[in-house]
Amino acid sequence: MEKSNMHVILSAAISIDGKISTRSNDSKLSSTKDSIRLHKLRSNVDAILIGKNTLLRDDPLLTVRHIKGKNPTRIILDSKGTISKNSKIIKTSDKIPTIIAVSKKISKTNLLKLKKFPVEIIISGETSINLKSLMKKLSTKKIETLLVEGGGTVNWEFIKNNVFDELIITLSPYLIGGKNATSLVEGIGFARIVNSPNLKLKSVKRLKNHLVINYIKV
Ligand SMILES: NC(=O)c1ccc[n+]([C@@H]2O[C@H](COP(=O)([O-])OP(=O)(O)OC[C@H]3O[C@@H](n4cnc5c(N)ncnc54)[C@H](OP(=O)(O)O)[C@@H]3O)[C@@H](O)[C@H]2O)c1
Repeated sequence: MEKSNMHVILSAAISIDGKISTRSNDSKLSSTKDSIRLHKLRSNVDAILIGKNTLLRDDPLLTVRHIKGKNPTRIILDSKGTISKNSKIIKTSDKIPTIIAVSKKISKTNLLKLKKFPVEIIISGETSINLKSLMKKLSTKKIETLLVEGGGTVNWEFIKNNVFDELIITLSPYLIGGKNATSLVEGIGFARIVNSPNLKLKSVKRLKNHLVINYIKV
C-alpha cells in the first residue's frame, strides 16, 4: 500500500522516567503554559487521534480551549466500537467533527449503535485497525496533518509501522515509576536500538520547570 502524505506528530507529556500516566491512571503531567502550547498546536492540525483506553480513562474533549482557534476533527481508534454515549466525545459530536475508526470485527449491534451517533465511522483492518489504510482514507478527507495524543499502545503502533514524522514531548518534573504505569511507548518494543527510528533534535524549549522537546524523524 502506498504511503499517505499525511504529516503525523506524536505528542505527549511524560515524567522524567518516561511514564505518561501513573498506575492509577493519573495523567495530569502538563502545566498551564504547556497546555496553552498544546492547544495552539491542536488548532493548527486537521485532526487529533487517540486510542480507546485513553478515551475510557481520561474522557477527553480534544478541543481547543486555552486559546481561540478551530477545533480539529477528533479520531478515536476503537476496533469493536464500544465508545459510550456518555463520553464527552460522543456528547459533543453534534458540534465537533468526530470519526470513530473500527475494524471489521465490530459486532452488528455496536455498529448499529454507532450509526445513531452524529459521527463518521471508518472501517479498516480485520481485528485491529490498520493504520496505513486508515491514514489513506483520512487523506481523502483532506486530513493532511494529524496529531496523535496517545496513549502508549497507539504510539507504539505508529512507531512500529513507521507512520510518523515528528515527536513533541513535554518532559515534566516528576518521577512516577511502577511497572503498571503506562510508558510513552508500549507494545512489545524493539529488540535492538538499531531498530529504533532515527530522530534528530529540532528544538528544546523551556517552560519554567518543563521542557518541550521536538524531534524529527530522519
Ligand atoms: N501524558 C500524556 O500525554 C498522555 C496522553 C494520552 C494518554 N495518556 C495515558 O495513556 C493511558 C492509555 O494508554 P494505553 O497504552 O493503555 O492505551 P491507548 O493507546 O490509549 O489505547 C489502546 C487501544 O486502542 C485500540 N486500538 C484500535 N486500533 C489500534 C491500533 N491500530 N493501534 C493501537 N491501538 C488501537 C485498542 O483497543 P481495541 O482493540 O478495543 O480497539 C487498544 O487497546 C491512559 O492512562 C492515559 O491517561 C497519557
